[in-house]
Amino acid sequence: MSAATSSIFNRRREEFPTLTSGIHLLSHSLGPVPRKAREAMIAYTDAWEHHTSEDAWATSWWELSEKVGDRLAALLGGARSSVQVQPNASIALSVVASCFDFGASKRNKVVTTALDFPSMGYVWEAQQRLGARVEVVPTDDGIVVPLERILEAIDETACLVALSHTSYRSSYRVNARAIVERAREVGALVLLDTYQSAGVVELKAAEWGVDFLIGGTIKWLCGGPACGYLYVRPALQNELQPRLTGWVAHAEPFAFAREMQYARGVRRFAQGTPNIPGLHSCLAGLDIIEEVGLETIAQESRRRTAWMVEFALEQGWRLSSPREIEGRGGSVMIGVDDAPRMVARLAERKVFVDWRPQVGLRISPHFFNTDEEVREAMQILKEVMSNE
Ligand SMILES: Cc1ncc(COP(=O)(O)O)c(C=O)c1O
Repeated sequence: MSAATSSIFNRRREEFPTLTSGIHLLSHSLGPVPRKAREAMIAYTDAWEHHTSEDAWATSWWELSEKVGDRLAALLGGARSSVQVQPNASIALSVVASCFDFGASKRNKVVTTALDFPSMGYVWEAQQRLGARVEVVPTDDGIVVPLERILEAIDETACLVALSHTSYRSSYRVNARAIVERAREVGALVLLDTYQSAGVVELKAAEWGVDFLIGGTIKWLCGGPACGYLYVRPALQNELQPRLTGWVAHAEPFAFAREMQYARGVRRFAQGTPNIPGLHSCLAGLDIIEEVGLETIAQESRRRTAWMVEFALEQGWRLSSPREIEGRGGSVMIGVDDAPRMVARLAERKVFVDWRPQVGLRISPHFFNTDEEVREAMQILKEVMSNE
């Protein structure tokens, strides 16, 4: 890895206690917990303990969703008031699905891919009972779904294209602009699952004109569990009426009206009481990501993953991710014969990665990893591989 191209910035390592335990390369699964997350959780508990009435809503709970939503919107490249926080990405997807009347129209096809996270497939399978036709665009090699195939599947019968922006399996990153452009031509909407992109890849929701983004904070954003998000393109928000809904989505939630009247704006995509501890748990990670800056983080990720890919190819290893930077997210997958065993061997040497069937090891450097760590991890992998 060339030091000449290495940018000098504060990696904030001291803010993540777990980094003293070994080389953390697991941001695609579970980011390290910032030290300040503990303080945030204690502050939340202290405040919670002392609430005597409904003042919790008035003093902080209501606003917290909006504030976190706006901070996430900025990281996604969206405007303020374009993100509604959600319990998790799977629910966020179901909220979007519940905006469609699949059975009532011939335009009822949902275009997905074979590299999406399984949860998405389960949600679409369930929508088939309501008349959705689901086309899963296949992959030949388990790494890439050719763009032409995705574009071909987007025809006049498609109401929605819903796929991973970066695949959890191979780190394959789709060409968002080309997909949105094709969908516009035929009048379909586009949803991208940016769980494996947000916090490590620069996203441009507004510029792309994408309709929905879903994801959560526990991976690249160094946040806690059960803090998902749903971005909805501002001009589209008031046209939709999700069936998966609740009192927080009402125009006047505290009027306790009998009939639903959707709030104007992105709050209409909420359901019930938000996950307040979840929201507190992601504040420290958001602070750090914002301070380091997404541009710096993305640049660093490209530089290091490029070096890892080169190293892997030099060793003659099986690369289970695309070679080109533009077609890849922040992870590099390397095919090995007995992946669970390899993960265990690496853990013994304090290198923390994980694996998925068929693709092998998933390895993810993030801004807090030093170049020395990345080099050492790959060197240890080389040793472990030759011993096996
Ligand atoms: C790309 C992607 N989408 C969705 C999910 C699942 O998210 P959630 O548990 O918030 O529903 C994951 C989790 O690993 C993921 O990697």
